Amino acid sequence: MSPKNIVVLTGSGVSAESGVATFRDADGVWAKYDYREVATPEGFAANPALVHEFYNNRRRGLSGVSPNAAHFALGKLEAGIEKSGGQLTLVTQNVDDLHERGGSKNLLHMHGELSKSECAVCGDVRKCDGDLSVESICVACSQPGGMRPHVVWFGEMPRFMDEALDAIAAADLFISVGTSGSVYPAAGFVADARSAGVAATELNLEPSENAHLFTDSRYGPATEIVPAWVGEVLNAH
Ligand code: OAD
Repeated sequence: MSPKNIVVLTGSGVSAESGVATFRDADGVWAKYDYREVATPEGFAANPALVHEFYNNRRRGLSGVSPNAAHFALGKLEAGIEKSGGQLTLVTQNVDDLHERGGSKNLLHMHGELSKSECAVCGDVRKCDGDLSVESICVACSQPGGMRPHVVWFGEMPRFMDEALDAIAAADLFISVGTSGSVYPAAGFVADARSAGVAATELNLEPSENAHLFTDSRYGPATEIVPAWVGEVLNAH
């Protein structure tokens, strides 16, 4: 039976071939930076200038990268599933904007978005293409000192958890693409799916930490295995 209701979880591996670094691979972000310094509220409080520089650099990098065949295939899958009366929810841990640019619409950024700013004083969230600094002033409340990237740090609550878990419980297929399965709660989604009786497929360069929980798996570069798998699903519809 072809799946009608699909939840896709993605991680940094889906963007690797676009030139965005993964986190835990040998040349990954956490090999160069200490996550406690740049990706925790405590790190931001201790050295906000360093944290702003880290995310400003990553935000600037977005204009130099493009969606790859895996992003486009997932956008095409969403359109195809919707056309046949089903639904696809894409939950991403990535803070880049490559899924949007690849055509995905029903998209939940559970770790936030690099291309948005957030004001810790008034909570305003808005598009942000430029750099942020300790001196940045909030456009909404005019206060300085509260501006931060709209990303979720370790120790903070990921966004859209209710929506993601509801979508998984209602799905007939859960797919995990390009994630090592090291960071919870996203790493627990496959177990959530399996306990709800939902089939689960892993598409990754190599087996993740949760590989044994999946009912099916394909291993290889995302730009090859994701379009191939999407082609099979759409052909079955
Ligand atoms: P990781 O770096 O932990 O894992 C990346 C995964 O992608 C690995 O399993 C790789 O094998 C796989 N991979 C690498 N290149 C690939 C390719 N070309 N095609 C397919 N797969 C490939 O990154 P994430 O799982 O995304 O959170 O990490 C999850 C979270 O940890 C991130 O959102 C971030 C990080 O710390 C925060 O910063 C809060």
